[in-house]
This record gives sequence, structure tokens and C-alpha cells, in this order.
Amino acid sequence: MNNVIELTHPLIQHKISRLRSKTTGTSEFRALVEEIAMLMGYEALKDLPLVDVEVETPIEKCMTPVIAGKNLAVVPILRAGLGMVNGILNLVPTAKVGHIGLYRDEETHEPHEYYCKLPDPISERLIVVTDPMLATGGSGVAAVDFIKQHGGKKIKFMSIIAAPAGIERLMKAHPDIQLYVGHIDHKLNENAYICPGLGDAGDRIFGTK
Ligand code: PRP
Ligand code: URA
Repeated sequence: MNNVIELTHPLIQHKISRLRSKTTGTSEFRALVEEIAMLMGYEALKDLPLVDVEVETPIEKCMTPVIAGKNLAVVPILRAGLGMVNGILNLVPTAKVGHIGLYRDEETHEPHEYYCKLPDPISERLIVVTDPMLATGGSGVAAVDFIKQHGGKKIKFMSIIAAPAGIERLMKAHPDIQLYVGHIDHKLNENAYICPGLGDAGDRIFGTK
């Protein structure tokens, strides 16, 4: 699948291994998620459009490129996607932030929506959806459905660990988006958790459970 980009950079892989360890505590886990998001964002945003502006250096005036417009929106899927937001904002501080609140039903594993708010208007923005875990893909599909219903068109989805089933479901429903993943794990278990994964990302970021 052309629109699925696995980011194999050694720094990302190293930090994901630290995330996986059950001995990694909340504060290190949170810092790692933010760092990985920044490294992934560096790659995922490499096609941001540039425009030349005039700048006067201490030597002379020149035309030099800056990011065109203030057109980025970061949209975390709550809760765990929140952990990735500052990583992207470190790169593009002017980005607006929307929120999509979804939780998975423990029995059916299907997503339930509880809160959604997007920057308005959304249609001209490049939208980066963040969620560390893409498991069955149900939450990812619901989030992109919602963004498109509100006019979003240019969508990049960033996920630190993804299962093949989730990638397939998301890309089948939304073949026009670009999906950036830090690592593709091999399967889901009977509770729809990613194996080997890293456990419950939201609980590990926020220290719940
Ligand atoms: C987790 C994760 C994703 C979703 C992935 O969130 O952050 O949003 O599960 O699973 P899926 O691909 O099968 O939909 P969860 O519902 O546990 O909520 P939380 O972030 O609030 O803990
Ligand atoms: N959500 C998580 O946080 N972890 C998984 O492995 C699957 C869904």
C-alpha cells in the first residue's frame, strides 16, 4: 500500500522499544511518546509547502523559504492521541488543535464517540490525526469519517504501533489518506490488543489503572 509509510529510523525504533517495556514508568513513557511524535512529524511533514519571503540578514537582503500559511491542524484521538500533540506542536507551534473523543467498548471493541471539536474552517487545512495505537482500526476509521463529514480533505494519520488488521481496515475505508506508522506488529490478541504492542497506551500515558 503506497500510502502506508513505516518510519524505520533507528531513533524511532529505539524509543518504541523503551515504550514497550513494562518497566517504563509513566513520566518516561509520556516523554517518549512526545519525542517519537516529533520524530515521526519531521518525516510526515516533509512535503509541507514553502513560500519565499524577503529577509534581511546582517549582510544583505535575500529571498528565503518559510512554511506557507498557518494551515496545519493536529487532531488527537482522545485520550492517548493527546500524548503526541506537543511533539507536533514543537515542530509547528502555530498549528491549531482539534479533539476527537472515542473509547472502545470492552466487549465489541467498537468505538464510541463522546466529544468532538475541530478548528473551523477545517477544509483548507492539512490535518494530522494522532493516536499511538491502531489496533482493529475502528477508532481510526471513525475519526477520519468525522473529519471528512466536517469538510476535512487533506489527512495524515500518525500511529506509533499498528496491527495489520487496523492498517487494512483504515486504508480500505479511507484510501486517500497517508498513514505513518512507527512499527507494524504482527497481530491482535483475543481482546483486540496489539501483540507484542505496549499495553494500554492511554493508561500508560496518564498513569491510570
Ligand atoms: C485506544 C487507542 C486507540 C484505540 C485503538 O484507545 O488509543 O484510540 O484504542 O483501537 P482500535 O484500533 O481497535 O479502535 P481507547 O479506546 O483504549 O481509549 P483511551 O485512549 O481513552 O484509553
Ligand atoms: N488500544 C491500546 O491502547 N492498546 C492496544 O494494544 C490496542 C488498543
